Amino acid sequence: MLKDDMESVIQTFHQSDLIILATPLYFNSVTSWFKIFIDRTQILYNAKYKLKDPIFKEKKKVVVIANAGAPHYPGQFEGIMVELKHFFWNINADVIGYYKYNDTDEVMIKDNEAARLELANAGAQIANLQF
Ligand SMILES: Cc1cc2nc3c(=O)[nH]c(=O)nc-3n(C[C@H](O)[C@H](O)[C@H](O)COP(=O)(O)O)c2cc1C
Repeated sequence: MLKDDMESVIQTFHQSDLIILATPLYFNSVTSWFKIFIDRTQILYNAKYKLKDPIFKEKKKVVVIANAGAPHYPGQFEGIMVELKHFFWNINADVIGYYKYNDTDEVMIKDNEAARLELANAGAQIANLQF
């Protein structure tokens, strides 16, 4: 078995009420680092489907933030949505917020008034969640 800090990452996941994942769009999908991270959560998949004893007993709440450098084009975020939908099934998680921003090579999220407002509202809602 590969021994690295993934064990503590999964432990932190386990102890978290809410997980926020963020990725830039790379070739219409998550980055290769993010994909490596997903692949390393296979232990969660095996526990849930093979051993029928999920490590996350209760569904985890997840928020996703994705940014794409290019202006909008059809299907821009579809790859991420499909990849992450299956990932969240596998690890027993529910997405409670999906925030996607395009054209960020032109206007960064920090300079995008509408995006900042949307994320501030999301933060306020999260702060009021009961766990
Ligand atoms: C390898 C690579 C692939 C990218 N692919 C896409 C893409 O498919 N669609 C898009 O809108 N932007 C794409 N971009 C732009 C990035 O989403 C954007 O520049 C992002 O802010 C890069 O984040 P980073 O600086 O953390 O790598 C790509 C950028 C890189 C470097």
